[in-house]
Amino acid sequence: MNVYNTVEEIKMNKTGYMDVEIDPSLDLFEEIEKLKKEKNAVVLAHYYQEPDIQDVADYIGDSLGLAQQAAKTEADIIVFAGVHFMAETAKILNPRKQVLLPDLNAGCSLSDSCPPPMFQRFKEQHPDHLVISYINCSVGIKALSDIICTSSNAKLIVDSLPADQKIIFAPDKNLGGYINKTTGRNMLLWNGACMVHEIFSLEKITRLKERHPEAKLIAHPECEEPVLRLADFIGSTTQLLDYSEKDSSNSFIVATEAGILHQMMQNSPNKTFIAAPPDNACACNDCPHMKLNTLEKLYICMKYGKPEIKMEESLRLAAKKPIDRMLELSRQFGLV
Ligand code: 13P
Ligand code: SF4
Repeated sequence: MNVYNTVEEIKMNKTGYMDVEIDPSLDLFEEIEKLKKEKNAVVLAHYYQEPDIQDVADYIGDSLGLAQQAAKTEADIIVFAGVHFMAETAKILNPRKQVLLPDLNAGCSLSDSCPPPMFQRFKEQHPDHLVISYINCSVGIKALSDIICTSSNAKLIVDSLPADQKIIFAPDKNLGGYINKTTGRNMLLWNGACMVHEIFSLEKITRLKERHPEAKLIAHPECEEPVLRLADFIGSTTQLLDYSEKDSSNSFIVATEAGILHQMMQNSPNKTFIAAPPDNACACNDCPHMKLNTLEKLYICMKYGKPEIKMEESLRLAAKKPIDRMLELSRQFGLV
C-alpha cells in the first residue's frame, strides 16, 4: 500500500513517476553510476527490463535471486528495476531502507488477478489448507499466505510438505497446474494468469518448430499447459538462461517475455534465439508493466529519491513471515 503525502507525490500518483525534464546532453549511464556511489544505492533488475536498464544494473536475476539480493544488500537505497510486487518484496525485507521503483504504475496482471478480499473469502472456505503463494502477488496476498515460492523453488517447496497436506496455490493457475503435474499433488488453484505468458500461440510455435527442427523450445512455467507439453525445458528465467548456455543446442525458441533474450544473446553470442510468437498481430511479447520503466525514469527516481515504496507496518510483518520461510527453505535446498 502506498501513501502519498507531498505535492510531488500526488503529481506522481497520476503519472507513476516524477515528470521532470532531463538535460539531453547528460550521459545517463555515467550519471546513474555517479548517483549509485553518492547515495550508496544498488540497482536490482529483472531480466524483463529493457536492455539499457539491464546494462546499468548491479544485479540481474529472477524473482528468487532478486529477493535474495534484496535480503542481503548493504546499500542504503534499493532501486528496483522491475514491477511493483518485486519492489514491495524488497521493502518487506528492508523496512529501514529506501526502496525506489522507477514507475509506480509498473504493476502485474497476475498479481492483479488475485485481490486480497476475494482471496481471504476463498481461504476461509478451505480452513484445512496451507496457502502457498507465488511471489507475483501483492503484499496483501503475501500476508494471507503460509509460504511464498517462485518459479525456481516451487516444486522443491511443495515436495518438502507431507503428502497428505492440503494446499491452496495462488495466484497462477498455470504454474500451479505444472507443479501439480510434476509433484503428483492436487493443489487447489486460484484462477489467475500472466497476460504475457498466456498469449503464446500454440499453432505458430508448432509451425516455428517445423521450420527450425534443430531448435529447442524452452518455456517459463507461467505458459499454458499445451505450450509446456511441447517444451524441451521448463524453468524460471534464470534457469532458462543457464540452460541456453549449457545445452549443446545452437538454437532456441524462447517462450517467455522477450527481455530475457538480451542476456541470452550476451552469454551465448554464437547461438540463435527466437522469441516464441504470440497470438496477436503485433508479434510482440513484451510485458507492458515491466516496460513502463525506462533508463530516464530510473535516473530521475535515483536523483529525486521518488517514487518510493511504502506500506503499513502490520501488513509488512505479516507478509514477511512467508517470505522468510521461502528464503530459509531455499537455503536448505542449496538455492543460494
Ligand atoms: P522469474 O524471473 O522468477 O522466472 O519470474 C518471471 C516473471 O514473470 C516475473 O514477473
Ligand atoms: Fe506480471 Fe506477467 Fe509481467 Fe511478469 S510478465 S510482471 S507475471 S504480467
